[in-house]
Amino acid sequence: MSIIRDAFLAPRGQQKIDWVYESMGVLNELEYLSKPAQILNGKTIAMSIHMEAKTARLALLLKALGAKVYATGCNTLSTQDDVAAALANHGVEVFAIHGVSEQEYRTHLQKVLEPHPDLFIDDGGDLFSTYCSLPENEKWPLLGGCEETTTGITRLKQYEKKHGSLPFPMINVNDADCKHLYDNVYGTGQSTVDAIMHTTNNVIASKTVVIAGYGYCGRGIAKRMRGMGARVIVTEVNPVRAIEAKLEGFEVMTMIEAAPIGDFFVTATGCKDVIRSYHFPLMKSGAILCNSGHFDVEINLKHLGTLSSDIYPCRDNITGYRLATSGKVINVLAEGKLVNLAAGNGHPAEIMDTSFAIQTLSLLYLITNTDKLEPKLHSVPKFIDDTVANLKLKAMGVTIDRLTPAQSEYLGLDD
Ligand code: NAI
Repeated sequence: MSIIRDAFLAPRGQQKIDWVYESMGVLNELEYLSKPAQILNGKTIAMSIHMEAKTARLALLLKALGAKVYATGCNTLSTQDDVAAALANHGVEVFAIHGVSEQEYRTHLQKVLEPHPDLFIDDGGDLFSTYCSLPENEKWPLLGGCEETTTGITRLKQYEKKHGSLPFPMINVNDADCKHLYDNVYGTGQSTVDAIMHTTNNVIASKTVVIAGYGYCGRGIAKRMRGMGARVIVTEVNPVRAIEAKLEGFEVMTMIEAAPIGDFFVTATGCKDVIRSYHFPLMKSGAILCNSGHFDVEINLKHLGTLSSDIYPCRDNITGYRLATSGKVINVLAEGKLVNLAAGNGHPAEIMDTSFAIQTLSLLYLITNTDKLEPKLHSVPKFIDDTVANLKLKAMGVTIDRLTPAQSEYLGLDD
């Protein structure tokens, strides 16, 4: 029995789901090609991904391929209650409510594991760690799972390093080309800028935007911010990426140097305490801080709270912190949770189309290769990336040149 906010919200959620179908041509094609075979028949799949329209589309595809699907979110603030209600109407078991406590969030993760799924899709590693924390006698053999994001991959690598292997095979969806090159860069770039503009209603042009982390997400945000007319400053800890940012034309400096200059601060590192106690007092009054990394650990709000004499809501998704010593106000968006989903609509559907196509084909790969896949982290096979890229080009109405046999031979390729 689903746990959702309100079943009467379903019609509005259904409109949102209907809207994204148009933009998810690869998933539509996969449904068309694979539905007759019912390849997921008899399989139970648990999902923990941001509960919004694109995720609903993925869940409905898996259901159309024959699976029984149990879905929850992966962040307390990114669930859209209307979408959750609409998805539940389709017979997916949904356990997700916007703004639940951490405790309830954990309970929802346990709920999707209760039917002992054969496979799961994780986003950030919370579902994996919930499985791992079960008593040994309550665990069951999973065929495997797929991890969606950089932070989840970091956590899986840490587990593998500590224990020598994983409990079952996991596919590193994040590092597939058709995922991180589009989703992390263009998806996070556009949706983060969109969420900041929508939440603050402030002008970006002429402002100084400090972006922490010049990885795939950070570079996407930096490009979009520059396109909006901002002066962009990048902070990094990786010398190679710092040079990339510099060569791209961005200013690079430390957070201490950037703190007094920035109007907006956006973290996208996957690291913790990127903005911490000694940065806040240096900032301008009115500075706006937000995070696009997976967890709300990048801006240390505990430090900020300790430095503040007053903490108050300014408008939806903006909290003001008045610093006790100077009276300056630091504004934080979406409680430091990933701003593009907690205070926005997430990535455009066209972008999630390829990410979720990789997810779907990786699940099919897992069930057709159970005997061969060891219990460790696996890359997405190149043929899956190529298949998704070709389907996306088709959906975009783009054709490209193909190598002639002579060219393939010249390049030393098989075909
Ligand atoms: P990445 O590994 O490509 O880039 C992270 C960058 O941050 C690296 O260049 C690293 O050197 C830098 N960094 C690490 N610690 C730092 C520090 N203390 N100060 C400055 N720079 C630092 O990772 P990617 O793919 O860009 O992901 C970043 C985060 O965003 C992860 O938590 C990931 O899960 C999340 N993510 C969020 C999305 C969203 O929708 N908001 C979408 C995709 C990923």
